[in-house]
Amino acid sequence: MDNYKPIGIFDSGYGGLTILKEIRKALPQYDYLYLGDNARTPYGTRSFEVVYQYTLEAVKKLFSMGCELVVLACNTASAKALRSIQQNDLPKIAPEKRVLGVIRPSVEEVVSITQNGHVGVLGTNGTVSSLSYVLELEKLSDGKLAISQEACPMWVPIVENNEIGTQGADYFVKKNIENLLVADSLIDTVVLGCTHYPLLHHTLKKFLPQHIKIVEQGSIVAKKLADYLKRHPEMETRCSKQAGIKYFTTENAETFDEKASLFIDDVVNSKNINYL
Ligand code: DGL
Repeated sequence: MDNYKPIGIFDSGYGGLTILKEIRKALPQYDYLYLGDNARTPYGTRSFEVVYQYTLEAVKKLFSMGCELVVLACNTASAKALRSIQQNDLPKIAPEKRVLGVIRPSVEEVVSITQNGHVGVLGTNGTVSSLSYVLELEKLSDGKLAISQEACPMWVPIVENNEIGTQGADYFVKKNIENLLVADSLIDTVVLGCTHYPLLHHTLKKFLPQHIKIVEQGSIVAKKLADYLKRHPEMETRCSKQAGIKYFTTENAETFDEKASLFIDDVVNSKNINYL
């Protein structure tokens, strides 16, 4: 058990499975441990303090289960907790371990593909109000981008309730896209700043003008994680490689297994975990 050192993937619930799926596709050799805090989801509507506290608890739990490296697959957790954990907590609790997020890799991709510098960010209320995407985009582009944001609070429940493709889903996606394009009609790149949004890809395609590029995080995060492991052999060698995956949820395991199939093409046998 001592040499079981999985890469931890943390999310507020199911959404991080969209990231896990792409990471496993790109890096199948590693062991993974997925933790969904379904008992306390959603994070998107919660305050900074609460998201930080919940995320730190999860990270500590993942460390105690053998993870040397944890990816916060949740945008809201990345937006509201990552920096504090990296700067204030890690040096005290586990200076050798690392926690990475999903915002920086996504922002790097956006900056590299926008042609005219007009960028749109779609996310939860929490991610949008944190301004994390805006600040990272401004930093990376030396303030040269025109950035507009739109919070889409209905999109997570639409996905989780399997309402994709219904008139209700179309109504809300159309409305949010229209708001974004009213804010800036020149947008040429839109980043899906929430784990659930890739599942609305077809609906988005229906309402976004064709020339607008959609940045989805899963494959980008996977690519950046592969780069990270290459650049950090001291971490890479510590991660165990038996191609295993274990799923944990803070809520009911049967419900998790059933709903997980909306997000990932895998037979999920999760276990309930209680650290709350
Ligand atoms: N996983 C969250 C995110 O990417 C969405 C779900 C939630 O609000 O907890 O922001």
